[in-house]
Amino acid sequence: MKFFADTSDIDEIKALIPTGLLDGVTTNPSIIAKSGREFLPLIKEITEIVSGPVSAEVAATDYETMRKEAEVLRKIADNVAVKVPLTPDGLRVCKELSDDGTMVNVTLCFSAGQAILAAKAGATFISPFIGRLDDLSQQGLDLISDICRIYDNYPQFDTEVLVASVRNPMHIIESAKMGAHVMTAPPKVINQLFNHPLTESGLAAFVKDWEKTGQSIL
Ligand code: E4P
Repeated sequence: MKFFADTSDIDEIKALIPTGLLDGVTTNPSIIAKSGREFLPLIKEITEIVSGPVSAEVAATDYETMRKEAEVLRKIADNVAVKVPLTPDGLRVCKELSDDGTMVNVTLCFSAGQAILAAKAGATFISPFIGRLDDLSQQGLDLISDICRIYDNYPQFDTEVLVASVRNPMHIIESAKMGAHVMTAPPKVINQLFNHPLTESGLAAFVKDWEKTGQSIL
């Protein structure tokens, strides 16, 4: 499973790179607003430190303007994935960009039917938002299971399932069991995967016992 960081925070991104955990970055207009930074230079900076796909979302909702915005975004760097909403106009942009060799991330997916549409439009990634479904007392993970099953039935679909709106480690583990190709999560959630009390207590015991030996490896 590929790990994308759902953030535009440069320090958070830089901290993940040496771990080898980071395969890409996703942003959205809310994340950009939170950063307080200029959108285009910020995306450029991220593409320069991350070699994998960096999702940058169009701001408009009509075809003509989205298409123009997409042209600007895709020229930033080869590893930009243009993010478009799951609307008829958004999928029209998706089809044109993907036919032209640009990565496209189709966002705001909340149903399996929408995921079929995105795959048919040639999306590189489909982003089902599972946390927001959980917030409505629906099982977000059921959507991942459905999309993975459907895509498996059609080898001609090469769209990758990018699990989004990830809120906790179980979202990642369960999505991985289902075979989702990618997940994007805030770095805090990625780092929560490290946590286990037996790792912590076991390490403390090893450190203490090693001290008793009086030895040094170096
Ligand atoms: C990523 O592509 C999505 O925009 C993001 O995961 C949404 O997460 P949220 O529901 O926590 O805002």
